[in-house]
Amino acid sequence: MKRLIILLLSSILFFPLFADEGMWIPILMEKYNYEDMKAKGFKLSAEDIYSINKASMKDAIVIFGGGCTAELISDQGLLITNHHCGYGQIQKHSSLENDYLTDGFWAMNHKEELPNPGLKVTFLVSMAEVSEAVLSGVHNNMTEKERNSIISKNIDKIKNSAIEGNHYEARVEQFYNGNQYFLFINEVFTDVRLVGAPPSAIGKFGGDTDNWMWPRHTGDFALFRIYCNKDGKPANYSEDNIPYQPKKYFPISTKGYKQGDFTMVFGYPGTTTEYLPSFAVEQIMNESDPARIMIRRKKLDIINAAMNSDPLIRIQYSAKAASIANGWKKWMGEINGLKRLDAINVKKQYEHEFMNWVNSDNERTKNYKNILSQYQTIYKNLSKYNMARIYINEAGLGADAILLALRMRSLESVETKTDAGIEILKKDAQLKADAHFKDYNEATDKKMFEEMLKLYYENIPVEFQPNYFAKLDKIKLKSGNKYQDIAEYCYKNSIFGNQEKFNAFLNSLSKKSYKTLMKDPIYLLMKDYVDIYLNKVNAEFSAYDTKLDSLNRIYMKAQIEHQEDKLLFPDANFTLRITYGKVDNYFPADGIKYNYFTSLEGIMEKDNPEIYDYTVPQKLKDLYQAKDYGRYADEDGSLHICFTASNHTTGGNSGSPVINANGELIGVNFDRNWEGTMSDIMYDPEMCRNISIDIRYALFIIDKYAGATHLIKEMDIR
Ligand code: ARG
Ligand code: GLU
Repeated sequence: MKRLIILLLSSILFFPLFADEGMWIPILMEKYNYEDMKAKGFKLSAEDIYSINKASMKDAIVIFGGGCTAELISDQGLLITNHHCGYGQIQKHSSLENDYLTDGFWAMNHKEELPNPGLKVTFLVSMAEVSEAVLSGVHNNMTEKERNSIISKNIDKIKNSAIEGNHYEARVEQFYNGNQYFLFINEVFTDVRLVGAPPSAIGKFGGDTDNWMWPRHTGDFALFRIYCNKDGKPANYSEDNIPYQPKKYFPISTKGYKQGDFTMVFGYPGTTTEYLPSFAVEQIMNESDPARIMIRRKKLDIINAAMNSDPLIRIQYSAKAASIANGWKKWMGEINGLKRLDAINVKKQYEHEFMNWVNSDNERTKNYKNILSQYQTIYKNLSKYNMARIYINEAGLGADAILLALRMRSLESVETKTDAGIEILKKDAQLKADAHFKDYNEATDKKMFEEMLKLYYENIPVEFQPNYFAKLDKIKLKSGNKYQDIAEYCYKNSIFGNQEKFNAFLNSLSKKSYKTLMKDPIYLLMKDYVDIYLNKVNAEFSAYDTKLDSLNRIYMKAQIEHQEDKLLFPDANFTLRITYGKVDNYFPADGIKYNYFTSLEGIMEKDNPEIYDYTVPQKLKDLYQAKDYGRYADEDGSLHICFTASNHTTGGNSGSPVINANGELIGVNFDRNWEGTMSDIMYDPEMCRNISIDIRYALFIIDKYAGATHLIKEMDIR
């Protein structure tokens, strides 16, 4: 009640309700959002954001790798993204001797920049609505299968004609659960080099302890450079390639921001599911999230203990640990947030109103009467398959040795190969195996295997258990601990848990190797998991999925009709979106107010050499003592580190530019607050905040900490 009154008052006294929910489509922005953006302070034109006639912001934004965003900040292809987005690359270049993860890395000239085979960045050339062409030939009386087959043929046609005679790539994506379709034409660059990364004690400061949390002090940024051939076109790595000259790059503002200032985040949000029925939310809150959280907690206990015992294992497992911990913590926050919002009841209440609306009209009754009851049945039936799927992914395939076996399935074909064919298989496998074993520790993995096997045995009904379990059950127990003994047996008798054994196997690869595979316990176990997944779980799942696809499409359409006074945004689907809001603080709990920015003082307060995540580099302490912040200091004299705003973001928005009213870069998005992680399912304007690194902190680190002033000179700093 209190909250409601405050809300009402603020809306009457100050401004229309500032509900910053929504991830908007760039080409529809002018029509739907521009006036609102202007009212909230945005000073540029819609054409400045997205245009096909002139250089616009969208030309300065890329998909970085497979799941992050990055933006151009110089006319020489320099781009900034998050440290955690470039983490894999930084790690790949790291060894105990050259430990760039720990010490940071700075190329002092173009020659020193490090190539990253496999890394690509993707520019959006243009987008267009293609719903009519995609849905041509589709009508209401066809089965979902017929429908999908027509749609996929149409999509192929559209994509093929879009890339005819050019070097672009095309994607067609569905919006509003298949009620609308857009075509995206992309340009992909494949020579992307590492330019700079702060030490983890800055770029990952606070580590998994602070992850998803505010107040935050993480310098989560890294620099890369795009290279192209002499014609400015994408080309694979070559010494002759030159820095790419983008159509547009972001000017950088050192003026900072104030509470209430307009901000927008322009990037690639991955997935949201804001229009789910209550039954789905119930399943997430009560089944999926708790299971994943429990399994990952176990994994983290094993990996953390290993990392703390050995610096090499820390390098090898840090990226794995970070990614496991990231989901683990997010899902906990998500459950809390959904509980706080009473999400299930809010949805149920909505569904009640929705059904009243449906029942009050004959046409609607005909179309929508059974949607919710169908959902209810499906989610109920889906439950056990959902659990099995989670356990196979998280626990069954949880140990690295099993994952290696999974990636080596092509070796099964060895029996049918010629000598030359075997050589090809071998080469390919060796490459994958080398990368795999670089980040592998046998003892840690064996422990993981043991614990994951135990979880699977104890929590998943026999109908979804590998047949191979029966064989494992017959192993003679030695230690008295069944799972430990099984793990010992498997790692002793498998080639997949040990680099020497695996390499020896590859070296003597021949037609006979097939037999070795078919006796290998880890290989056989992997095969069983895959078999269960495909034939028992996914077979059922896809049948339900098809039904859900159709229900989701109809329910989405109905919700749009039902809430016609509201502009509903389409769920995130890893396409370029605009979200806008304002720089803002929040109240995480009764009596607590969180300020909207942090400063270097806070890093010094957290400093604790005994806690890995809170170890502050001496050089940063020295700079703090000297208070030499130069032009990167805020008006208030301090050096700002991170700030919060009310932009509606999600995974994939990492690395996205945070832009002020003048179109200047003021930060790089990297996280959300824990209290707001349920925003993928239900957004709360009072509680949901995105977290960004203040661009001035990044510049300070590049300039004063690393002395990489040549990079600063490339940028347009205002
Ligand atoms: N939570 C952020 C995101 O979802 C950052 C993750 C990386 N950092 C970490 N400490 N694990 O990606
Ligand atoms: N860290 C996330 C990412 O990698 C962004 C945080 C979020 O989920 O909002 O995209």
